[in-house]
Amino acid sequence: MPATFINGAGIAGDIKKEVASEVAGLKQKGVQPGLTVILVGDDAASSAYVNMKARTCEQLGIRSRKIVIPGPVTTAELLARIRSVNEDDSVDGILIQLPLPKQIDKHAVLESVLPSKDVDGFHSSNLGSLLLGHESLVACTPAGVMELLKRSGVQTEGANAVVLGRSDDVGKPQAVLLMHANATVTICHSKTRHLADITRQADILVAAIGRTAMITANHVKPGAVVIDVGTNQVSDRAEIERLFGKDSVRWKDFEKRGYIWVGDVHEREVREVASMMTPVPGGVGPMTIAVLMRNTIKAARMRRGL
Ligand code: GUN
Repeated sequence: MPATFINGAGIAGDIKKEVASEVAGLKQKGVQPGLTVILVGDDAASSAYVNMKARTCEQLGIRSRKIVIPGPVTTAELLARIRSVNEDDSVDGILIQLPLPKQIDKHAVLESVLPSKDVDGFHSSNLGSLLLGHESLVACTPAGVMELLKRSGVQTEGANAVVLGRSDDVGKPQAVLLMHANATVTICHSKTRHLADITRQADILVAAIGRTAMITANHVKPGAVVIDVGTNQVSDRAEIERLFGKDSVRWKDFEKRGYIWVGDVHEREVREVASMMTPVPGGVGPMTIAVLMRNTIKAARMRRGL
C-alpha cells in the first residue's frame, strides 16, 4: 500500500487556530504580541516569504512590522538597526530573514538578536538551552517536524531516527529534538559513507540536505516515516518528467511559474516503500510559519513571565 501523506497544511492550520485563541487570551490581559521581520537586500523569494509571514501575523491578531533594508548595507549598520529593535519594548519577536547578502557577517548578526526575542531560535544561547533540554525558543522548521510527528501519531520513543543534513538551522536542532524525544539518532551528511545502508535503518528519516530527490526507494526501510524538509526549485522539463512523469498537478504548476518545488525525497519511488511521508509542497513548509507564530507568543509570554 502506498504511503499516506502527512497533511502539513492541515496541521499548520490547527496550530494557527490555537495561536489565534492564545492571542485573544493575551489581548484580554492587555498584551498584544508583535513580530518584527528584517529583510536585507532585494531577493524576490525572501520578500515573498516575509510578506507571507506578515499576512499570517495579521490573520492571527499578531502585530507585525517589516523592516526592509534594500541597498548595500554594512554589518555595523545592520547591527545598529537590530539594537534599536531589541530595545523596542513593543516587539516580542525578531526574525532576520535568511539568506543575508554576502558582505554581511551572518554569525555576528544572528548573535546580536536578543535571545528572548529570537523567535528563529538561531542564537547560540537558545541553541545551548535546547541542547541542555531547558525551555527555550526552538528553530521553527525542526520544531515543526516534531509537531508533525506528534500529531500524526508517530512513536519516537526507541525509534531509530536518521537526520540527513547537519545545518545549524535544521539538521543540528532536529537531531537534538529527536534525541530528547527518546529516539536513537544518527546524523548523516554529504561526506557520509554507505549512506543508504544507514538511512535504511531509520524508522524515521528526516531529509534536510538540499539535494533534489536524492532519497530514493533504495534509501528507505519498508514502513518508515519519511519527512522531507527539502525545497529545491526545478525548472528542467526532462527532470520533472523523470521525477513525476505525467503528473498533471506538477505540470500545471510548472506552466504557471516556470519551475516547481521538489523536496530531497524522490516522492514517486519512496511512496511505494514508506508508511507515511510529507509532500513537497504542503508538508513541512506550512509548519515553519505556524511554529514561528507560536514562538512569537511564547516569546511574548516568557518576556512577561506569563
Ligand atoms: N529563510 C528561509 N527560511 C527561513 C527561516 O526559517 N528563518 C529565517 N530567518 N530565514 C529563512
